[in-house]
This record gives sequence, structure tokens and C-alpha cells, in this order.
Amino acid sequence: MKKFKYIDLFCGIGGFHQAMESLGGKCVFASDIDRDCRKTYEENYGLEPAGDITKIKAADIPAHDVLCAGFPCQAFSKAGKRLGFDDETKGTLFFDICRILEYHKPKYALLENVRNLASHDHGNTWRVIRERLKKLGYNLLPEPVIFSPHYIGVPQHRERVYIMCVRKDIGNIKPFSFNADDMVPCTIESILENDKDIPNVKDYKISPQMEELIDLWNEFLQSIKVERLPGFPIWSDRLCDLDPNEDLSQYPDWKQNFIRKNNELYVANRKFIDKWLRKARKNPLFFGAKAKLEWQAGQTKKPDIWKQIFQLRPSGIRVKVNTYFPALVAIVQTSIIGSRRRYLTPRECAHLQSFPDSFKPDEKPAQAYKQFGNSVNVECVRLFAKHMFEACNDKKK
Ligand SMILES: C[S@@+](CC[C@H](N)C(=O)[O-])C[C@H]1O[C@@H](n2cnc3c(N)ncnc32)[C@H](O)[C@@H]1O
Repeated sequence: MKKFKYIDLFCGIGGFHQAMESLGGKCVFASDIDRDCRKTYEENYGLEPAGDITKIKAADIPAHDVLCAGFPCQAFSKAGKRLGFDDETKGTLFFDICRILEYHKPKYALLENVRNLASHDHGNTWRVIRERLKKLGYNLLPEPVIFSPHYIGVPQHRERVYIMCVRKDIGNIKPFSFNADDMVPCTIESILENDKDIPNVKDYKISPQMEELIDLWNEFLQSIKVERLPGFPIWSDRLCDLDPNEDLSQYPDWKQNFIRKNNELYVANRKFIDKWLRKARKNPLFFGAKAKLEWQAGQTKKPDIWKQIFQLRPSGIRVKVNTYFPALVAIVQTSIIGSRRRYLTPRECAHLQSFPDSFKPDEKPAQAYKQFGNSVNVECVRLFAKHMFEACNDKKK
């Protein structure tokens, strides 16, 4: 399609918008319930999105060729299972997509959702979605495609489900295949800004106390005598002898297992750990989640957190290999780049979602992080939109 009209439902800050415009699309309607997203959207694209989609009549939406939607995943009602598909989607935002598709019958629809949708409710959610879309007159692949930007050289591990729908009279979708050979290698450097070019770079730096804390954990990893670096979480309050009066059976099996492993690590390194704990406990940050470490950066002779990327998670400081970032999320937990001793900036988050540098993020970093965390990767949308547009009717050919 050379020129086409599309609508951007649950538009957020316009991940679909970026991709569709680059393919010749013109946005004729957008909607998002979140006021801050609507503001960012309007500032960037000069189009004011409407609000809550459940309150908008399909007849008030302009005609369009493509419907785009990265919709929130919700369970379908159990009652619906007895009543049939039409009723099953009622009360969910997928129902609103369906009523707009039913009214306008656009040629294409491209939907995106979290990976979990594929297996949600033992596959029932996907079954309902697929049957409903088929009933509305669309061809789609038997399974949703699961894809991540890190497959195509963008260093973010973000597995998402993409659902391509083509109106039956337009044609069939070719199966989508992506092999290990097609993988484009990633480097985190490809999305990082130069520190000297970042305005207020000090706002993104971690505190000196945090640096000391990471040095402490590095000392721990480099000093313990082990055959393999612990694959289990290190819980500093469990680096001690087992208390004979504590009944471990009160805990689930996985927790008992981690407690025992921490104890074994302690027993084998008692002298060093006692001394290290005395020092660590002097750091005011060494409590709660920061007194726990999850080393997920593989086996190496000289582990060094500063060479990796890490996140402060409720379960502990999680260290990952520096090849790609974990998925951006709408809540905090912004990744820290060890070599730069700072958090990702909003601009770097924009890069991870493949937004161009002309995009103006929300001025408040907390809002910008949230909006990029909710967004969709532009290059992934482009890939699936292009694949979907290649659908054709063999008879017509
Ligand atoms: C996963 S995000 C989609 C983000 C978008 N694809 C992007 O690139 O930024 C889902 C969006 O749905 C919006 N939303 C949730 N309920 C809604 C409703 N009833 N009407 C309109 N938008 C809604 C949320 O505010 C959120 O921005």
C-alpha cells in the first residue's frame, strides 16, 4: 500500500504512529485514556487523541484502511465460556476493538500484546481472540507471533505478541519465519549517548553510597571460593548458620532450597563472609533488596558488576550480561549501565523503542520512563506491518 489511512487505538506515545507514517500511513484517529500520553502524542504529531475508547461510538471514528492497537490484556469472563464468543469479550477492551472492526471493516488490523497473552488462561484468551477475529471476516496466522527487538539488533529483550489480521477478500498472510541465522547481533553501545552530550548528566548518576555498595558486592563475588558463581539469589541475611529452632518447612520448596544454598556458601567461606558482612552493614544502603544480589551474568573468572548492566528490583540487585537490556517497564527499575555508573536516560529509552531523535519525550523523566515502558518497539511494528501488507489473494495474482 502506497498511501493509507490508519487509526491508533491505545495510542500511548505513538509507537504504531512512528512505524505507520514511515510506511506511507496517515493517522485519522487516535485514542488513549491517559492525559499525559495524549499531551506527548499531540506535541509530537499535531493530533489530539480522544480519551476512553469505551465511550466512543464506532460511527464517530473516521473510515480507515488499517486499525492499530497495543491493547491491555484482560481475562475474558468465565460466564462467556458458556454463552459463546460474542459474549466472552464483553467488558474487555478487546471488545472495543471488535466493535470498531465490525463497523468499519478496515483491510488490515495489527495488534500487539504482552507475551503472556499466548498462554494466558491455558490458551483460552488467544482462542477467543482468534475465533472472534475470524468471525469478523479476517485471516490470521494460527498462532500469534512472539518477537523481540533484540532479534533485529536493537538491544532490548522485549518479547511481545504480534497479531496480523487481513480482511479475507484482501488475501492470506504468509507464515512468518525468523531463524537463528536471521538474528542481528546487539551491542548496548549502539543506543547509548555520550555522557558529555547529556544535559544534567549528574541527575542520572548513581550516588556515591550506591557505588560503594556495588564495590562491596564486587568484592564479595571476587573473593568467595566457589567452583561456579551462584546461580541462586544471594540473600545476605541468610549468609549464616542455620538456626536449629527455625522450621524451614513453613516456606515453599524453592525458598527452602535458596536458604540452604546460602547457608552452604556461608559455611564454605565463613571467615571471609563474617568480615565482609561487618563492613557491608556499615553502608546505609545495605538493607532490604539492596542486601540481596542476583548474579545472572554467566560464569567468568573475574566477575565485575561495573562491566555489566543491573537493576534494583524488589528481589535484589539483578546483574545481567551487557549485550541487551531487560524490557523497559512502566514502573521504576530503570536499568543502570555499569560502565557509565548511571541510569539509562529517557533518550536512551527512546532508542530502545526505536523512536527517532526528533521525538520529544515528556519533560518529566518519571513520565517519560513510564511512557517508553508502555510503548511498542517501532521497528518490530514496521516489520509486522510490512509482512501483513504483503498478504495477497493468490487467485487475484
Ligand atoms: C500498552 S499501552 C500501548 C502503548 C502504545 N502502543 C505506544 O506505542 O505507546 C496501552 C495504553 O492503553 C491505554 N488505555 C487503557 N485503557 C484505555 C481505554 N479505556 N481507552 C483508551 N486507552 C486506554 C493506556 O493509557 C496505555 O497508554
